Amino acid sequence: MNFYAMLKKWLLAGTAITLFAFTFNATADNATPNASSNNTLTYQPQLENQRDPNQYCAKCHKFNNQQFHGTHLSQVSPNTGKPITCVSCHGKISEDHRRGVKDVMRFHGDIFDGKKPMYTVQEQNQVCFACHQPEKLREKFWAHDVHAMKLPCASCHTLHPEHDAMQDIQPKQRVKLCVDCHGKQQAIREEKEKAKQPSKDAQ
Ligand code: HEC
Ligand code: HEC
Ligand code: HEC
Ligand code: HEC
Ligand code: HEC
Repeated sequence: MNFYAMLKKWLLAGTAITLFAFTFNATADNATPNASSNNTLTYQPQLENQRDPNQYCAKCHKFNNQQFHGTHLSQVSPNTGKPITCVSCHGKISEDHRRGVKDVMRFHGDIFDGKKPMYTVQEQNQVCFACHQPEKLREKFWAHDVHAMKLPCASCHTLHPEHDAMQDIQPKQRVKLCVDCHGKQQAIREEKEKAKQPSKDAQ
């Protein structure tokens, strides 16, 4: 089965995926963002703006001096034509949100931090695939294909900061990115192999 057949099958099947699609579409339609806070590249919470879903989240989450600098909050969803909000990517919170339950999507970019991700790579990336077509991603950069199911988008991209880490990345840096991560993986694999083999020197 080739990659696209796999992706298609995967997109069509899977309850988690259906659930996500539902959550994200439903929430996007309910969003009633304030136009004045959405047509700028920098989102800055405004306290009086209670109906803005971004503002609701930003009451508790303050990034980079209370600003979301990334591109997304000034874009509209290609699926609904509605402004993209926090909820478009993270979904809605539950009553026990502050207690760290599994409700919002948690993107886990650092695959070497030793922590078990709450959501699988597929679950994380499915959020992005809802708006970013695999074909288009491949046109932009072939390496999107080989990683689509295996590496979180957030391992390379950073969406909250003003500049996405991959924006205008130079060829040299790009190669370093690949070599660093694959080198580290290789080193860990070798380490594990070594640990598995009983040491002959010890006898
Ligand atoms: C386009 C998708 C997208 C949107 C929109 C978005 N986020 Fe995120 N969020 C991410 C990703 C991906 C990460 C992982 C870190 C990164 O890549 O920057 C993240 C990380 C986080 C984190 C973890 C802490 C951190 O800083 O790493 C919190 C909390 C969060 N987002 C809340 C929000 C809130 C609140 C909003 C709205 C103001 C929002 N997000 C909008 C994708 C998004
Ligand atoms: C009443 C305060 C409050 C509100 C409102 C709130 N959050 Fe949170 N959020 C928290 C706290 C506290 C945590 C830390 C819980 C934990 O993981 O232990 C958290 C955790 C998170 C995380 C995981 C952070 C990480 O480092 O992994 C994300 C993502 C997130 N919230 C997104 C949102 C989004 C999106 C909204 C709006 C729909 C929102 N939050 C609204 C308080 C809030
Ligand atoms: C609700 C729709 C939607 C979701 C969900 C979404 N995006 Fe986007 N994204 C867009 C739109 C619209 C743009 C701007 C037009 C474009 O570049 O395609 C964009 C732009 C981008 C860009 C270019 C950023 C820049 O600074 O120029 C990157 C990278 C990106 N998205 C990655 C992601 C990742 C990774 C995720 C998942 C964590 C994600 N997006 C989720 C709609 C979305
Ligand atoms: C191995 C690192 C890596 C991973 C993983 C990755 N990307 Fe990228 N992505 C890049 C690089 C590098 C570029 C810039 C290509 C260029 O224009 O030179 C890029 C470009 C993009 C763009 C185009 C941005 C623009 O300026 O138009 C989008 C959208 C995007 N990626 C989304 C995603 C999504 C969604 C995922 C997860 C499914 C993902 N990427 C996973 C490295 C990665
Ligand atoms: C942050 C870590 C990370 C970065 C950065 C990264 N990769 Fe990967 N790459 C992975 C992981 C994880 C896999 C899946 C490996 C597996 O399943 O054994 C993978 C798989 C691949 C594969 C498929 C190999 C196979 O056996 O399936 C290729 C080819 C590849 N990466 C090339 C690249 C290139 C080119 C770059 C730089 C543009 C890059 N990678 C950047 C982590 C990374």
